[in-house]
Amino acid sequence: KIKGEGTAHSKLILIGEHAVVYGEPAIALPFPLLMVKSTVQLGAGEITITSDFYKGPLNRIPEKLEGIAVCIRESLKFLAKPAKDIHFSIKSMIPIGRGLGSSAAIAAAVVRSLFSYYDQKLSHQMLMYLVDIAEKYAHGNPSGIDMECVSRDMPIWFKREEAIQPIEMGMPLNLVVADSGRIGDTRAAVSAVREKYEKHYQKAKQSINYIGELTRKTQAILAGGSPRKLGELLNKAHEELMKLGVSDSELNHLVSSAKNAGAIGAKLTGGGRGGCILALAKTMEDAEHISNSLRKAGAGNTWFFTLGMSKPASMN
Ligand code: PMV
Repeated sequence: KIKGEGTAHSKLILIGEHAVVYGEPAIALPFPLLMVKSTVQLGAGEITITSDFYKGPLNRIPEKLEGIAVCIRESLKFLAKPAKDIHFSIKSMIPIGRGLGSSAAIAAAVVRSLFSYYDQKLSHQMLMYLVDIAEKYAHGNPSGIDMECVSRDMPIWFKREEAIQPIEMGMPLNLVVADSGRIGDTRAAVSAVREKYEKHYQKAKQSINYIGELTRKTQAILAGGSPRKLGELLNKAHEELMKLGVSDSELNHLVSSAKNAGAIGAKLTGGGRGGCILALAKTMEDAEHISNSLRKAGAGNTWFFTLGMSKPASMN
C-alpha cells in the first residue's frame, strides 16, 4: 500500500466527569467537528513524524510526547512485516489539554493509519490496548473514557471496570462548546477531588453520589424526555463540580453567559480548571446566538452542532 490513513474525532463528557473516577457512570459524546487525521507513507531510512507538536525522527521525540512513540513501537510488534522507514503526517484540529480527548484521538488516528498502511485488520480491543499505552504516558491513570469515545461514533455510557454501553438518543441535542483558551490540568483537578474526598469525606461523597444520580437520570431523558429537563440536570452537575472545586471563576462566567444567552443548561466538561464548557440550546439558531455570546464573554473559541438521534448499535 502506498498510503495508510486513520482518523479519530474529539470527545465531550456530557455528564459524570470526576464522579466516574469513584465508580459512578459518565456519559460521553462524539464531537465530530474536531478531527485528527494521520497519514502513513514510506519514509527515508527511519520512522519520522510531521505534526504541529513535533517534527523529526521518532527516536528523538521529546519526553512529554514519549507515549506516542511507545504506542507506535508497540503497534509495530503486531504487524506482519513492519518497515523501519515510515513517515507519519499527523494533522489535529483538537486543541490540547481542554478535555476534548486530543491525546487519545491522536493515538487512535496514528494506530489506525499504521494498520491501514499494512492492510491489517485492527479490532477495537487491539486499538484500545495500543491507545491505552499512549494514554498512560499522557495522563498517568486515565479512566479510559477518552479512548473509547474518540474511536466510536455513538454516545457512550461508561463505568469503570464495566463494558461500555451505547446510549440511546431519542432526541437530537443542539450543543455549544466553548473553549476557555486555557489548558486545564486534569491531573491536578483529579488530585484536588481526591484530597477533598479524604479530608471532607461526607461532603465529597455526597457530591459524587449525586452526580451519579444525575447521570442515570440523564440516560433516561436522552432515550426520550425533554431537553429542558436535561438542561436542569446539566446545571445541577455543574453546581456539584463547583462544590468539588474543579470549576473556576472563568468557567463559571462562561456557564452563566451561556445561560444568559438562552442556553437551557450549561456546565464545564472534562477535568475542569480551564478547558471547556458545554451548553444545551433549544434550537440551532439559539446555539449560534449562544456561541457568539460566549465569544464576546471571552471564550477563545466556540463551536455548535447537532448530535443526531441514534438507536444503540451492537458494540464490538
Ligand atoms: O480528560 P478530561 O479532561 O476530559 O477528563 C477526564 C474526566 C475525569 O473524570 C476528570 C478524569 C478521568 O480520568 O475520568
